[in-house]
Amino acid sequence: MALVFISYIVMGIVMALASGFIGAEATRAFFVFGDSLVDNGNNNFLATTARADSPPYGIDFPTGIPTGRFSNGLNIPDFISLQLGSEPTLPYLSPQLNGLRLLVGANFASAGVGILNDTGIQFVNIIRMFSQLDYFEDYQRRLSSVIGEEQTQRRVNEALVLITCGGNDFVNNYYLVPNSARSRQFTLPNYVNYLMSEYKKLLRRLYDLGARRVLVTGTGPLGCAPAELAQRGRNGRCSTELMHAASLFNPQLVQIIKQLNAELGSDVFIAANTQEMHNNFIMNPQAYGFETSKVACCGRGPYNGLGPCNLESNLCPNRDTYVYWDPFHPSERANNLIVQDMLSGTTKYMYPMNLSTILALDSRN
Ligand SMILES: *[C@@H]1O[C@H](CO)[C@@H](O)[C@H](O)[C@H]1NC(C)=O
Ligand SMILES: *[C@@H]1O[C@H](CO)[C@@H](O)[C@H](O)[C@H]1NC(C)=O
Repeated sequence: MALVFISYIVMGIVMALASGFIGAEATRAFFVFGDSLVDNGNNNFLATTARADSPPYGIDFPTGIPTGRFSNGLNIPDFISLQLGSEPTLPYLSPQLNGLRLLVGANFASAGVGILNDTGIQFVNIIRMFSQLDYFEDYQRRLSSVIGEEQTQRRVNEALVLITCGGNDFVNNYYLVPNSARSRQFTLPNYVNYLMSEYKKLLRRLYDLGARRVLVTGTGPLGCAPAELAQRGRNGRCSTELMHAASLFNPQLVQIIKQLNAELGSDVFIAANTQEMHNNFIMNPQAYGFETSKVACCGRGPYNGLGPCNLESNLCPNRDTYVYWDPFHPSERANNLIVQDMLSGTTKYMYPMNLSTILALDSRN
């Protein structure tokens, strides 16, 4: 009797693994790199203050509990996973990410990081961009031990990749304190040039590690986040210095993407103009069903722009009517709309092509 019971359990596990395997095989893998806009919970495993592990974060997540995502519910990578027909990517540091689950991909992002190693130093233990890429290498070794080297390489080559960073290089570096070290070293235009040369190195390394389809998002309209309205804005107007920073950064990012693609002779890198996407909500929130783009749903002080967001903060009743969930991060609904723009936006939003085109194109191979 007991033996029969055990063999049923074993069979169940084998079948679950097999169906998980087939399910994951059928969809392409997804890899995510970057900062808090795309972190799915890596920082929960680290000794850092840059974390979203307490309520009301996650209040609209299917489980209703905080996961480390800087959102009331799903974030941008989650909405992309839904489009791919796959499970959300697990944080790379999660102990649950093992065996055949590795096939789904992995999320290497870590809140607080920037292009530069000295960005977010106040958060101490975060996974800097170069370490995220080291982990990607490590991931490939681990997947190789499950499905072999050749299959691993194919899965990585065929994967969709998302990389989101740069905002913190302004907010948590150049403009972190008045007269910051970087602002004494560089004028803003020269700093942006420096960021671009360093970003290019990271993107080249990503290519060398096998990535062949990479969505690269620009920064949002940094100066209009409730945190900046509270700290730097004048009478609810967006901070001009941060708006200027974003307006230098984003077009240059498109330029380096064009250069890299030309060098590689292939449209490996795709620029997602998240500034433009976000601007639409900020200029005309009502047209998108939002009540406000100035006030954060969760926070305190002017515009709810001062953190932290926790159970003692103000919390709006209807999260869907706010562009910003907390002082820095979009709400679940705004994240969904951003991914819709990635999917079907014109070349004004997605250069050289949108995500629907990518998915159609790559499925023909
Ligand atoms: C960051 O640190 C790593 C390891 O020390 C180094 O290899 C890399 O070049 C650094 N990146 C920048 C932008 O300084
Ligand atoms: C973007 O995607 C849609 C499909 O959703 C397509 O019809 C459209 O032509 C694409 N736009 C561009 C500029 O690629």
